[in-house]
Amino acid sequence: MRGTAAEVVLELQGIVKDFPGVRALDGVDLEVRAGEVHCLLGQNGAGKSTLIKVLSGAHRPDAGRIMWLGEEVSFARPQAAMRAGIATIYQELDLVEGLSVADNVFLGREPAGLGFVHRGRMREAARGVLTRLGHGEIPVDREVAKLPSAAKQIVSMARALSMDARLLIMDEPSAVLAHDEVANLFRVIRELTAQGIAVIYISHRLEEIRDIGDRVTVLKDGRTSAANLDAKGTPTRELVSKMTGRTIEYVFPPRPDHSPGAELLAVEGLSLAGEFHDVSLKVHAGEIVGIAGLVGSGRSELLETIYGARRAGAGTVRVAGQELRPGDVRAAVRQGLGMAPEERKSQALVLDDPVYRNITLATFGRFASAGFTSHGRERTAAVRIADELQVRPPGVERPVRTLSGGNQQKVVVGRWLLGGTRLLLLDEPTRGVDVGARAELYEVIRRLVADGVGILLVSSEVPEVLGLADRVLVMREGRLIHEAEASTLDEHTVLDMVMAGSLLETENAV
Ligand SMILES: Nc1ncnc2c1ncn2[C@@H]1O[C@H](COP(=O)(O)OP(=O)(O)OP(=O)(O)O)[C@@H](O)[C@H]1O
Ligand SMILES: [Mg+2]
Repeated sequence: MRGTAAEVVLELQGIVKDFPGVRALDGVDLEVRAGEVHCLLGQNGAGKSTLIKVLSGAHRPDAGRIMWLGEEVSFARPQAAMRAGIATIYQELDLVEGLSVADNVFLGREPAGLGFVHRGRMREAARGVLTRLGHGEIPVDREVAKLPSAAKQIVSMARALSMDARLLIMDEPSAVLAHDEVANLFRVIRELTAQGIAVIYISHRLEEIRDIGDRVTVLKDGRTSAANLDAKGTPTRELVSKMTGRTIEYVFPPRPDHSPGAELLAVEGLSLAGEFHDVSLKVHAGEIVGIAGLVGSGRSELLETIYGARRAGAGTVRVAGQELRPGDVRAAVRQGLGMAPEERKSQALVLDDPVYRNITLATFGRFASAGFTSHGRERTAAVRIADELQVRPPGVERPVRTLSGGNQQKVVVGRWLLGGTRLLLLDEPTRGVDVGARAELYEVIRRLVADGVGILLVSSEVPEVLGLADRVLVMREGRLIHEAEASTLDEHTVLDMVMAGSLLETENAV
């Protein structure tokens, strides 16, 4: 924010939003100025997404005032907010899968100044915005359903950017972006704010807030617990205590002093055309192996192939010595494999089913064969997991759809913690999970490992890979380029390898 006299563009006063049985917002105040990046911080379920949905016309508030450019407004529909100059990138993507990239960028509108939909110019305009985001390579005619999830996120951003908005709202945009893409996003945000556009930015990553933010408003239990803090100068301790009411050190549980057990997973020469090539790795019982790499480096595809959700073109996967049939998820699950995938909505959750059913989904067969008939035992087991991971609000009968993003993520991971899994494949397990709940999740993961479970972990957050894993594999462009004990690596070295490649690559290629 340049200068101190920047005009207040948005003011929210006493916003209240009730859902059946839950007061999501209980009197929120927020003030946003032209040209600033205003960060919203708060634990999972604090009300951040609900607040921006109220602001963008997706929800009607039950009480409170919205002052936009000096006038009280009430947006009945998202289109009304868009027309008023408020563009929103939601936490859940809202693209139309069956339409092309260009159609999605200009959905319901046409490029400014055309007056009619001119396909050629629309495609050109779409390409222009994508290029500005550093993703000119995304084909504008491609059906959105055929894009990887990171590219979908970019399309969703391109859409918001193309609106000529005066306020841009971003709900955890970085959750699906790789390190270099976040840098790109920040460059674009800086361009926008320099033109006086205001940005509301939501993230659980404090480093990002320090980097891009001007001011911070903290939500706790649906209320503003601190407003307009200095994003750069406010101590982390203070931010965390405003969020949680307590102080949490963001640390990893100590690595237990044990040597890994028997070989659990052996992958040899695994290849999948266009995704990854000739990958060999091992995971032992009681060991965490972390894979670092950019989005698009083939990490997720590798996990999915090991799990049998994709069929390898070459190579073998053996679990405890037994070879898995390629492309057979059921066989993998029978051998004790579990997987928490990256894209929780489409791949992992039955949104309208209750929380307990989603937690016991993978193990349902086991409950059934154990003579489980009433849903009593199923529920008891689910309640235990939901408690351990602090799924909020409590009550496992709620449809998963009504949980906040971070709480949905806990459900996805939680189902594999019920037991019976020997080898767990975790793809971005803490995406969207707040600092407090992360610590709980790390504890649970450590406990599993102490019980002899082996874990193969993919994470874009290098500190997470280094903090949790015993051994680290670095993946780039579909190949494993380095392997080392986590204790011998630091963040900088790993980032170097992940991005540009370093000399280490040729010295220690695996
Ligand atoms: N459609 C809905 N029906 C019922 N409850 C809802 C609905 N949407 C949100 N909630 C509840 O409102 C509260 C706030 O949720 P919200 O999604 O705003 O949290 P958040 O701060 O965005 O969290 P996260 O960091 O996990 O994304 C939560 O208790 C959530 O379960
Ligand atoms: Mg949210």
